[in-house]
Amino acid sequence: MRRVLYTGKGGVGKTTTAAATAIHAAQCGRRTLVASADAAHSLGDVLDRELSSRPRELLPGLHAVEVDPRGELDARWVRIHRYLTELFAAEGIDHFEAEEMANLPGTEELMTLLAAERLAREVAAEFLVIDCAPTDGALRLVTLPDVARGLVRVLFRVQRLVAAAAAPLARRMGHAGLPDGAALAELERFLYGDLRRLHRRLTSRDTSVRLVLNPDRLSTREARRAHADLCLFGVSVDAVIVNRILPEAARGAPPEWFEEQSARLAEAVAAFDPLPVLLAPLRDDEVVGLEALAHHGAELFGRRRPEDLLGRSPRVRFRRSAGTARAVVPLPGADRRTLEVVLVDDELVIRSRGRRRAIPLPRSLAGFGLRRAEYRDEVLEIELVAEVPGGAAGGGACA
Ligand SMILES: Nc1ncnc2c1ncn2[C@@H]1O[C@H](COP(=O)(O)OP(=O)(O)OP(=O)(O)O)[C@@H](O)[C@H]1O
Ligand SMILES: [Mg+2]
Repeated sequence: MRRVLYTGKGGVGKTTTAAATAIHAAQCGRRTLVASADAAHSLGDVLDRELSSRPRELLPGLHAVEVDPRGELDARWVRIHRYLTELFAAEGIDHFEAEEMANLPGTEELMTLLAAERLAREVAAEFLVIDCAPTDGALRLVTLPDVARGLVRVLFRVQRLVAAAAAPLARRMGHAGLPDGAALAELERFLYGDLRRLHRRLTSRDTSVRLVLNPDRLSTREARRAHADLCLFGVSVDAVIVNRILPEAARGAPPEWFEEQSARLAEAVAAFDPLPVLLAPLRDDEVVGLEALAHHGAELFGRRRPEDLLGRSPRVRFRRSAGTARAVVPLPGADRRTLEVVLVDDELVIRSRGRRRAIPLPRSLAGFGLRRAEYRDEVLEIELVAEVPGGAAGGGACA
């Protein structure tokens, strides 16, 4: 199944573009589900149809749904959450803090995506269009590996507690008791089953993100930052949509507006090169209802097919020569001052603007050490060398 996620700064037209994409795809013969993953649902308003957390068929081959993340924090997760809360509380952690700790970051977003996937399969969709929250919320999704790491830490802690202090802790926990094999097994299934599968899908060629922006500085800047983060996490971006382009026909508009717009467009084309930049005009009226959206979508895509992978963002590559290797990590728009690279346990850990991604070294480079890293022309180049047996491993820095 092909998945496209739309994100961008608040108010730029994400929901409108997602809905228009889905309607156009359905009219081109693709069975499509458009799902709102933004807790502040407005997909129903944009489509001008009452929506719920069950898919509703709006046109032949088109379903729409507003996923309810709270409702999706399913019984399984509620059980894990309760178990962790009680465990932390039994350790003497204040109840509210314990509850907060058990709220592992990103779970809500994860549940939403898992639900969208399940619903898409339920309606036999070939194409899943996801209307995401503004950029920051959406980016929490791609920090999945970090979430998984957090969960692994919790799991280890639980296991340690089970091994070292099962009896006294069980007494303190009262009715919850320890070890709760079922809750642990659930947690493990979630970590090693659902989460891994979802992460694989998100970073596969079937999934891409489309960044929506307006011809202005702020939304362009936010889209560039998102692009850098998505590249860091290995999620493809396949197109950029510049919405609300002032049409030539906008008679009476001051000429400076058009000059400003041309400058912003040129900036976007250069910043996102080689991705295609699709343009959507500013309409006289709000783009609401199936008919207006169908027209908007047809015009936006022209001869392109909405479900196609419209472009390719560059990916991490490893090159090897005798005794040395090079990792090439495209990071368009990254800030050199916040970049940091270290090698920990055969994983390259890259930090950029507070986000952290671990890239496992290919097996053939196991035991290599980090020699240096340099950020140039929007690309982070990391040089690795085969370590002499017995020599120090790890360490690192970035220019
Ligand atoms: N090209 C356009 N021409 C005219 N109106 C538009 C256009 N695109 C979006 N709008 C209108 O702008 C408003 C905001 O659009 P939309 O809800 O799609 O933005 P959003 O990015 O999803 O916002 P949010 O961040 O709140 O989710 C809506 O009223 C929509 O109809
Ligand atoms: Mg929206």
